Amino acid sequence: MLAFRQLCTNKLISNVLKSSVTQIHTQNALFKQSDTLKLVISGQSLQFPYVWLRDNCQCEQCFHRSAKSRTVDWSKFYLKVNAKDVQQGENFVKLTWDDGHISEFDLKWLKFRNFTAENKKIYDRAIYKPAKITWEGKDFQKICSKHDYDEILNSNQALYNWLHSLSVYGVALIQNTPNSATAIDKIVETIGFTRRTHYGVKFVVQNVPNTSNVAYLNTNLQVHIDLPYYEYCPGVNMLHCLEQTQSQGGENILSDAHYVASYIKQNHPEQFKLLTDVEIEWSDIGTEDGNEFYKLHRSPVICLDKHGELMRINFSVPQRGNYFPGPIELVQPWYEAWAFFLNFNHKFSAKFKTKAGDILTFDNIRLLHGRNAYEDSSNNVRKLIGAYVDWDEIYSRWRCLKVKLENIDGV
Ligand code: OGA
Ligand code: ZN
Ligand code: ZN
Repeated sequence: MLAFRQLCTNKLISNVLKSSVTQIHTQNALFKQSDTLKLVISGQSLQFPYVWLRDNCQCEQCFHRSAKSRTVDWSKFYLKVNAKDVQQGENFVKLTWDDGHISEFDLKWLKFRNFTAENKKIYDRAIYKPAKITWEGKDFQKICSKHDYDEILNSNQALYNWLHSLSVYGVALIQNTPNSATAIDKIVETIGFTRRTHYGVKFVVQNVPNTSNVAYLNTNLQVHIDLPYYEYCPGVNMLHCLEQTQSQGGENILSDAHYVASYIKQNHPEQFKLLTDVEIEWSDIGTEDGNEFYKLHRSPVICLDKHGELMRINFSVPQRGNYFPGPIELVQPWYEAWAFFLNFNHKFSAKFKTKAGDILTFDNIRLLHGRNAYEDSSNNVRKLIGAYVDWDEIYSRWRCLKVKLENIDGV
């Protein structure tokens, strides 16, 4: 009986879902020109739905100035709202709604948010996120921009340039960093704060026998992202080289896994499907500083968003768990796709050896990085200080700087 009831409820839910999906698909049929306000702003004809205008009224009753947040009471919101009077001035438009409420909008503010397809591109690049440009290993020297430590600390433009390049190419190098384990803190503070993990607020990368993490050995470290076992995976990795090895090796291997994923999508769609569909269990189990951890997160190697755009890459040999969550038939094909992905990442990778004073900053959920084996000696011990910062904080700082530096109208 319970099962039957459950079945009925499920059916009901699925019918409700289906009907709302149909509505979304027939959106054009539901859309009525009469529901929109037509305005000409600087010679351009634009339309703004009344419901959107009422929802975004900027008056003190509907919008809190200092919190910069909507406060309109949605329990009383009327969806079929209509304006009984519209007055357009040189820089503003004033609407008097059916219930007498008045909303006034700055025309630049409206234009910045207009609904045309062209404006979506403009808005996305002006304020949302910079467009990524993918690269392969042979382009690395060209795309890896160099930034001066002191300049970043002292100039908003220099800080912006670094964050912009990091967002676009997924990698940028900071040079001339003082030789101190806390020098990286000042860089982090220009953005906000570090993303703490079970390896600490910051972490030290050096050769430690009986370590908690294979990165803390001097052996070859295969290409990976850090911390794929986090659902909220730290976005950017910063590695400050305090001392580089004078031995052979110790170089970083870097590959733009977005370039590789796009290449595989184009040329090997079957493997692409396996890499985007099959969930893998990423894991990290152990103890750090006396604290136990047991992290698991399931996700495919290549994660796409609802537009099919690349969102996050997961890859790590040591931190791929040994439980395979998918069906047994997928094991062999999935391993073949995984090996395929690894090979192409190697094929399109760059090799780069940092120097003392460098902070290598890179997108941890886009690039794969690795390190060649090296040898320490009594007077030369390789040592890096690492810190993570989340993309949320970086994009936020990027936007704060951008609107100031470019004096963006309408924000
Ligand atoms: C790490 C890492 C790189 C290096 O610690 O996860 O990738 O150059 N280190 O040692
Ligand atoms: Zn209002
Ligand atoms: Zn790493």
